[in-house]
Amino acid sequence: MDQPFLYSRYSDLQRADNLFVLEEYLRLLRWDSSPGVGRGGPYAVLDIGVGDGRFAVEVLVPRLPGKCERFVGVDSSEVMVKFANQHYKSRHMEFVQLDIASDTVDPSLERSFDHVFSFYTLHWVRRQRQAFQNIYKLLKPGGDALLAFLATNPIYDIHQIMASNEKWKHYMKTDYIAPYHKKKHPEKQLERILKQVGFTKYMCRLENRSHQFHGVDVLRKSIKAVNPIVSNLSEPEAKEYMDDFMKEIVELPTVKIEKINNNPETITINYKLFIVYALRPDEE
Ligand SMILES: C[S@@+](CC[C@H](N)C(=O)[O-])C[C@H]1O[C@@H](n2cnc3c(N)ncnc32)[C@H](O)[C@@H]1O
Repeated sequence: MDQPFLYSRYSDLQRADNLFVLEEYLRLLRWDSSPGVGRGGPYAVLDIGVGDGRFAVEVLVPRLPGKCERFVGVDSSEVMVKFANQHYKSRHMEFVQLDIASDTVDPSLERSFDHVFSFYTLHWVRRQRQAFQNIYKLLKPGGDALLAFLATNPIYDIHQIMASNEKWKHYMKTDYIAPYHKKKHPEKQLERILKQVGFTKYMCRLENRSHQFHGVDVLRKSIKAVNPIVSNLSEPEAKEYMDDFMKEIVELPTVKIEKINNNPETITINYKLFIVYALRPDEE
């Protein structure tokens, strides 16, 4: 995903969900002065899949209690990291390229963070176990993580339809379907991974969420902003791809479209969001 300008403008759904997560779950993290590195004093934060950086700077950081003395935003996309550094780098904030599912993480970042966040990113990651192992490594002992990502979304049904379309299937080399989409008991799968990588205290919760897009054009741009295929297409191809995508989406029984008088259509999408809290145990 490398369309920071479009994402900056068309990410109301992600922003609303991320705000909800912060309002409901930020208090779960260890902000108190209990034993452990950094508790109660200045602390370091990592945000995985920081994207364009706007949400981190405008929403996340201002809501953190106490003194966040170091904020590192990482993203696998070079374009996103460049954009975030150009717009938001400061004395306490930096943005670095990192794929959270890579085999190794930069040793200088290991055991460096009191709190790890990730919003709207981990559903892109196929190597879930590797990603959670890296998150564990990046945390200081006694540090904790709050992660929010898609479990199920009707958009993935369209990805599946497009992947079987002769016109588009050769562009869909990677499987973009979220790893827990329509899985039975995804919480159990995730809890198993968290336990295997060493987290001792954890919570995996599925939240039913819903978002209304005001106008088909807003929905189209919001989808385009996070679509991994369109940026590899020529402009006319991208238009045709999005036209086909939109034709399919309005047909889905899980997507509700209402039009009242001359107002733009309201398109309601229902989906499930994973909220994960995990604590790396303190060292004896
Ligand atoms: C939808 S954006 C979310 C941005 C921001 N966290 C927010 O909530 O507005 C997802 C970001 O995750 C990044 N991403 C996808 N896979 C990743 C991976 N394996 N490691 C790190 N970042 C990844 C993408 O490049 C993209 O910038």
